[in-house]
Amino acid sequence: MAQHTLFLLPGDGIGTEIMAEVEKLIAHLNGSGATDFSYESGLVGGCAYDAHGVAISEEDMAKAVAADAVIFGAVGGPKWDDVPYDVRPEAGLLRLRKDLGLFANLRPAICYSALADASSLKRELVEGLDILIVRELTGGVYFGEPKEITDLGNGQKRAVDTQVYESYEIDRIARVALDLAMTRGKKVHSADKKNVMKSGVLWDEVVKQAAKDYPEIEVQQILADNAAMQLVRNPKQFDVMVTDNLFGDILSDAAAMLTGSLGMLPSASLGAPDPETGMRKAMYEPVHGSAPDIAGQGIANPIAMFASFAMALRYSFGMVELATRLETAISDVLEDGLRTGDIMQTGCRKVTTAEMADAIIAKLG
Ligand code: NAD
Ligand code: IPM
Ligand code: MN
Repeated sequence: MAQHTLFLLPGDGIGTEIMAEVEKLIAHLNGSGATDFSYESGLVGGCAYDAHGVAISEEDMAKAVAADAVIFGAVGGPKWDDVPYDVRPEAGLLRLRKDLGLFANLRPAICYSALADASSLKRELVEGLDILIVRELTGGVYFGEPKEITDLGNGQKRAVDTQVYESYEIDRIARVALDLAMTRGKKVHSADKKNVMKSGVLWDEVVKQAAKDYPEIEVQQILADNAAMQLVRNPKQFDVMVTDNLFGDILSDAAAMLTGSLGMLPSASLGAPDPETGMRKAMYEPVHGSAPDIAGQGIANPIAMFASFAMALRYSFGMVELATRLETAISDVLEDGLRTGDIMQTGCRKVTTAEMADAIIAKLG
């Protein structure tokens, strides 16, 4: 069996707690002969700042570039609220995405049937929900220049962020969404603000041009504010939604609650396939953050992290059957009534992070 290398970046807060469970999962998969992963761990975020004064060291960046896949926990927390902007914990995550070229962020929002009553929406609105948000991840207002605060000298300051998209960036993310839609419901909503933003006008134009190569797919433009409303009005109207970096960040947190909890939403951040090997750089990261309000208590939901690992099996290593087995194990444990606090329901058994992870691993057999 091929040996694959992983680079684990637990980060801060609950990131370290959920990554400890990933290590157990890897040990189990390797022990059962299903995989042959070797891995190293590094520091990112606040812990890297504490150790090195930066959000990620050059040495750890090099390891992230060299690995077959990066598994990322979460970064940030109030402890680092006042560190310089360039070395704040989140800068480590953004640098990884940018330097690895991870432009395509897949955020599937799936409502497991056992959790249909855990959503803040009515059961009938979310039961069977299976949406894929495709978020552009290396462009837009997150990275556009200038990005600065200037002192105007009259007691006023001026802050600038710049939303920039070039057509190639829109085209490539549109094609990721369209390709994925071909394997699903053949419907893509493209969310932008073309009624206000020039970048939205270009976004719509380029998406429509790319869509001409996919005549089977129904492509519909939607204004991003309406998309937010429709997500909570009637989420099952969506199959694939493609959108920019900032709208994708916000819409995916909203979509998370449809599934019961932010602690349920995984993601895969993918680069372009290498023209020679077909391999792509990739990082797998839950959508949630370091959850400072519950960190250190051993009660975080590890499912978003495990489901992100399942995406690694599927997208980086072609282990589709094993990925599906892991997802089924998650579903089975939920059917058995195990719940971390964030998805707790009456009649269910409240478990810790470790108990939830152990139960999922046990289901793998
Ligand atoms: P958050 O996602 O950390 O938490 C939002 C809420 O969801 C909290 O109430 C939290 O307890 C809950 N939650 C999140 N994940 C959970 C899980 N696995 N199990 C149970 N409950 C969970 O967002 P925030 O509070 O806005 O941000 C906290 C810090 O995390 C900030 O510094 C932010 O920048 C950072 N952040 C990092 C990432 C990342 O590393 N990918 C993502 C989002 C936010
Ligand atoms: C996410 C997070 C990050 C983002 C932050 C921590 C930089 O919210 O992954 O959704 O805004 O992309
Ligand atoms: Mn976010």
